[in-house]
Amino acid sequence: MSQDPIYPPNREFTAKASVSGMDAYRRLYTEAAEQPEEFWGQLAGEHLHWFQKWSHVFEWNPPFVKWFVGGKTNVSYNCLDRHLNSPRKDKVAILWEGEPGDSRAITYTELHRLVCRFSNVLLARGLKTGDRAILYMPMIPELPIAMLACARLGITHSVVFGGFSSEALKARIQDLGAQVVITADGGWRRAKEVRLKDAVDEAITGECPSVKDVIVCRRTGSDTPMQPGRDHWWHELDAASQDHCPAVELDSEHPLYVLYTSGTTGKPKGILHTTGGYLLHATMTMRWVFDIKEEDVYWCSADIGWVTGHSYIVYGPLSAGTTTVMYEGAPDTPAFDRWWALVAKYKVNIFYTSPTAIRALIRQGDEWPAKHDLSSLRLLGSVGEPINPAAWEWYHRVIGKGRCPIVDTWWQTETGGIMIAPMPGAVPLKPGSATLPMPGVLPEIVSLEGKPVGDDQEGFLILKRPWPGMLRTIWGDPERYREQYWSRVPGVYFTGDAARRDKDGYYWILGRVDDVMNVSGHRLSTMEVESALVKHPAVAEAAVVGKPHEITGQAVCCFVTLKKGDYSHDILGKELRQWVAHEIGAFARPAEIRFTEALPKTRSGKIMRRLLREIVTSNSVAGDVTTLEDMSVVTRLAAQHDED
Ligand code: WTA
Repeated sequence: MSQDPIYPPNREFTAKASVSGMDAYRRLYTEAAEQPEEFWGQLAGEHLHWFQKWSHVFEWNPPFVKWFVGGKTNVSYNCLDRHLNSPRKDKVAILWEGEPGDSRAITYTELHRLVCRFSNVLLARGLKTGDRAILYMPMIPELPIAMLACARLGITHSVVFGGFSSEALKARIQDLGAQVVITADGGWRRAKEVRLKDAVDEAITGECPSVKDVIVCRRTGSDTPMQPGRDHWWHELDAASQDHCPAVELDSEHPLYVLYTSGTTGKPKGILHTTGGYLLHATMTMRWVFDIKEEDVYWCSADIGWVTGHSYIVYGPLSAGTTTVMYEGAPDTPAFDRWWALVAKYKVNIFYTSPTAIRALIRQGDEWPAKHDLSSLRLLGSVGEPINPAAWEWYHRVIGKGRCPIVDTWWQTETGGIMIAPMPGAVPLKPGSATLPMPGVLPEIVSLEGKPVGDDQEGFLILKRPWPGMLRTIWGDPERYREQYWSRVPGVYFTGDAARRDKDGYYWILGRVDDVMNVSGHRLSTMEVESALVKHPAVAEAAVVGKPHEITGQAVCCFVTLKKGDYSHDILGKELRQWVAHEIGAFARPAEIRFTEALPKTRSGKIMRRLLREIVTSNSVAGDVTTLEDMSVVTRLAAQHDED
């Protein structure tokens, strides 16, 4: 739309940018679209180390793709060893700060040493290429160390966000068939200890026969029971380890990691990422989107438990030889200026966060950032959900002082890396739009029949061509992979997002079209919450929808019918909220539970979630209700008052 404000890149930024001006962007884009083999082959040769060159750049047997077929490489080698013969060897790789204020600066040489030592620990436990490890850890350097040690040996890792409950942890350990769990006694969050080892004990005792070893890093020093034979202290194993451990020469398609994410059923999907293509995608987007320079201090505030942390705290930044900042705790501890204090202290140049965090900080007032010198910042980023123009403008004005471009990056756990985002020295920005696709990304906006819709028309966002960082399958379930991503609109990748494209070709992401909610930038499926609720003995049926929320984007709103019995809605409501937190994790705790005698259903018995969504959004129902079995249910639900 022509009235959207436009921010062209400023001259100073463009002059130094790795991609300057629209012509340079268009050249890259056209080359990748027209000659993908040459384009990606050249970049892979230039930007990654290979033990053995590939025979084909890619092999596409829809819906399965392989990149750099026959090539041998290693992600850990690319993130560490190859920097050691350069001036980067003494450069800080990880700049870490714990919530209590303790800190560490780990150089590439030291990180390499620590990763080799931990790799030897894993080897000494009998682990080998092809085994699987679950990592359930706080945001401490040992988390990337463990990831890089697994990658070094070809042990496929799955990081489980520390906010997940023991139930969620158990399901992931079982699905992956992990031989080892790597954890910590606990971590610090809002000055309280989050006990992780306790949750591991609860998850695995008697329930996870595949797990032979639990390795526990000491972080908080609290009393931690250890089961002899199974549990080992990281520092004790490390004391018997050594500094030298060569990286295994792995196939380009070797499974690097599985990351579980919410789908449209109650069972989370294990998204599989492999080696060469994934790393190239993460490495190139560090350059294209974050315009990374040798001297930059870069900070992504995500948790490594989500994909953003995998690609843009660990693998992308380290492969690009960046100094990556890692912070353990909450943004409001001890006060609302913790992040800005960190930016000033470490002279952060590039800062990447989520719209939810920005909105929460806006609410605290401009005086918090005003206390700190933010002049080191030169580029800002946003990810996880659509950023509303008002939050964009605040971020630009108050944090970036009107000087820093904002890269709004659209991507997904499945895409492995950034897909639609501006190259900040080239693409004029429009607040609220993720702007233009990365090279090699061919999006389209289509109807359900797969027909492209016109400019400014809403439709489904699809991707027409496989890209290097694309998920390869769902762990253990290739049929679900095919069905979820490649069958909705036959032959193309279905993102699950609605979007529109304006006449300048800019993409505006409108949110999910499936039963996935986005709460504070965290993905959560309505079915996952529903299955948790119906496990409670008092609950007969449950239907869950996302309700618009000013800060968190969406909030979890549950409609519940009860079995026969005498319940206090007040008490039971609290109990059910707690129950969901226990079943999934505190971040999934419902904002609202509404009790009802019945749920609106079609005559064939399907719950009409669309109606429920309308009810929580507007407390009324406007759309077509002719297929509804019992209209009175809806009238009563709509009449119930919002409890927020
Ligand atoms: C949403 C996070 C609008 C989208 C990297 C997507 C966004 C889902 C943006 C993936 C953005 C992510 N603008 N929406 N810049 N980035 N999303 O798998 O709905 O946790 O499908 O990956 O987040 O969430 P996921």
